[in-house]
Amino acid sequence: MAFGRITGWAIDLPERILTNAELSEMVDTSDEWIRERSGISTRHIDGKVSEMSTNAGKAALEKAGVKPEEIDLFILATTTADKVVPATSSIVQNNLGLSCGAFDLNAACSGFVYGLVTAMQFADSGMEKILLIGSDSLSTFTDWEDRATCVLFGDGAGAVVIERTSDHPCFLGWDLMTDGSAADLLYCEHGGKIVMHGQEVFRRAVIAMENAANTAMEKAGVTSDEISLVVPHQANVRIIDTAMKRLGIAKEKAALVMDTTGNTSAASIPLALIDSIDSGRVKQDDLLLLVGFGAGMTSAAAVVKWNSAGN
Ligand code: ACO
Repeated sequence: MAFGRITGWAIDLPERILTNAELSEMVDTSDEWIRERSGISTRHIDGKVSEMSTNAGKAALEKAGVKPEEIDLFILATTTADKVVPATSSIVQNNLGLSCGAFDLNAACSGFVYGLVTAMQFADSGMEKILLIGSDSLSTFTDWEDRATCVLFGDGAGAVVIERTSDHPCFLGWDLMTDGSAADLLYCEHGGKIVMHGQEVFRRAVIAMENAANTAMEKAGVTSDEISLVVPHQANVRIIDTAMKRLGIAKEKAALVMDTTGNTSAASIPLALIDSIDSGRVKQDDLLLLVGFGAGMTSAAAVVKWNSAGN
């Protein structure tokens, strides 16, 4: 059990919204096909990871009432860094006026949960305040002529401030896994575009989500009945429905934002989490199950007891 809790949060989405109707003019597809097969209607594109992260990070710090100089560590989960060198976390650190260690963490769409697990270990070992941002600009690496992938991806950022607490444990259990034998199912070469074997990713994603979620719940000592809200990676609503069924959790308990965001990789779980918090769906002491999967193939899950200092 880790003693870190989320005390500030914010998101950022680029202004440019791309609709299914626009995509239907770019490739041989339709609004109906995209919504039925993926659950996506619109997505934000043309984002830059450093800019989205700076906006979300600044707003999350303000929400937490934490000054930039108080942050002890900054983790940026991203798979679409602005540049190969330096790490985008360096650029964002400077933009935000932080004075602490900063690093990029690449676990694709599982990146935010990987970052959360990492942050909680630092909180447990005595660090007081940590900034974690999940941000990706998949639109930069999308092949706009490939109808099987271009309809799925979008850009965004979600930031959280994690503060050490000495009283209530909030981070109850977690699981991290990578199956590198599936690395060629979803990849992007240097200078290239994203290539995905969608059906096989779909099949493995369901299994990976189920395994990660069950392991995290087992470590937390909770059952699926006790979970108030599942915050899944927003890749495809059919993947989420299938995984929820296998976990024995009503699909109504899933936080969904993909209708208007698409798959935003490392930003997807914080976007869905923050949407649920801001809409009043998350109550004090609720048990949240965060679960993601992504290129690698990575998977990750965490059980969080919602205990925001502000509540
Ligand atoms: N519009 C219309 N038809 C399409 C489109 C489109 N945009 N894309 C594919 N099709 C066609 C195919 O060509 C195929 O036609 P055919 O039968 O004549 O060959 C037909 O639709 C069915 O294709 P499938 O691939 O079987 O469609 P499926 O139902 O599997 O849906 C999808 C495809 C949406 C890609 C699905 O497989 C999926 O969501 N996979 C998982 C993707 C995912 O989760 N990726 C994120 C991983 S996380 C990360 O790290 C980024």
